[in-house]
Amino acid sequence: MIDKYFRRINRLRISVTDLCNLRCIYCRPESGLDLAKHKDILTYEEIVAVVQHAVKLGIKSFRLTGGEPLFRKNIENLLWMLGNVHGIEDLAMTTNGIYLKNYTKVLKAIGLFRLNISLDSLDKSKFEVITRGGKLKDVLDGIDEVLHLGFKNTKINVVAMKGVNDNEFEEFAKLTLDRNLEVRFIEYMAMNKKSLDSEDKYIPMANIIDILGKRNELKALAPPMLGSGAAKLYKINGARGTLGFVSAVSQPFCNSCNRLRLTAEGKLRSCLLSGGEVDLKTILRNNPTEAQLTDAFLRAASLKPSVHAGKGHVMMHEVGG
Ligand code: 5AD
Ligand code: SF4
Repeated sequence: MIDKYFRRINRLRISVTDLCNLRCIYCRPESGLDLAKHKDILTYEEIVAVVQHAVKLGIKSFRLTGGEPLFRKNIENLLWMLGNVHGIEDLAMTTNGIYLKNYTKVLKAIGLFRLNISLDSLDKSKFEVITRGGKLKDVLDGIDEVLHLGFKNTKINVVAMKGVNDNEFEEFAKLTLDRNLEVRFIEYMAMNKKSLDSEDKYIPMANIIDILGKRNELKALAPPMLGSGAAKLYKINGARGTLGFVSAVSQPFCNSCNRLRLTAEGKLRSCLLSGGEVDLKTILRNNPTEAQLTDAFLRAASLKPSVHAGKGHVMMHEVGG
């Protein structure tokens, strides 16, 4: 599928639930959020039907997100079902890692190819503050298990926040010395116009590269074939893993955007931040023909804006980052 700006659309991010077992300060308010009712959420069968149709349209790369994907009940059923869909070339997941250690074996068995684990502090009490109550050890145990089972392409997502975790960048970078991991620093994005403090927390990626470059010998790497686009890659000389830098705010990468997003409620969204959406759930629940499904995907692709309208005015938990 090609959109009207000649971008090839070959990836789909699937939010399997908008619920989460954490409430990270940059993602959710402390309390009170209108979350979808169960009947409004796509069933596993419906998600698989979307994936099967997407594969026919040349979308071969899928990422499961949330909320927290591993927080949805019986998620292993969906994982097994997706493991059996023919034509998927790349299956990935973004998780906060809290339940990860319970699922590593299933993920390995179904051939999950790439795992992104959110981790914004290596300090137990700071982690609790950022996630409003999460236990750091759960995530670290999950990461250990993932490395132990030999997953490749594992990324640790670190949202860089001034005054919150900016004293830990060096420690995060050092994780790559002897681990087969990519530590990815991500620019803090304003979630809505009301989050007044967002400007204070924002750190441009160039600053982090500078800071780390002063204390380490950094080598720039060529962009990888998979999971590329967004990140600039470096390696500390002699390190086993890599460092990634995602400058979604200072340098939007819309011109290489190749994805659509499916929300937990079955909306096919054209862009994280702006652009329109197609109500795929209503179509799915009315015995669609193949042509109707294809038309829904083409309409969503045609709604993709050339460049997003500015900083995010979207709630990240709806779309899974
Ligand atoms: N700014 C930057 N990244 C965010 N994410 C969620 N909210 C934000 C935000 N406000 C990304 C993080 C997290 C993933 C689930 O989504 O990388 O690890
Ligand atoms: Fe949950 Fe991820 Fe949002 Fe944190 S960032 S509250 S882990 S969805």
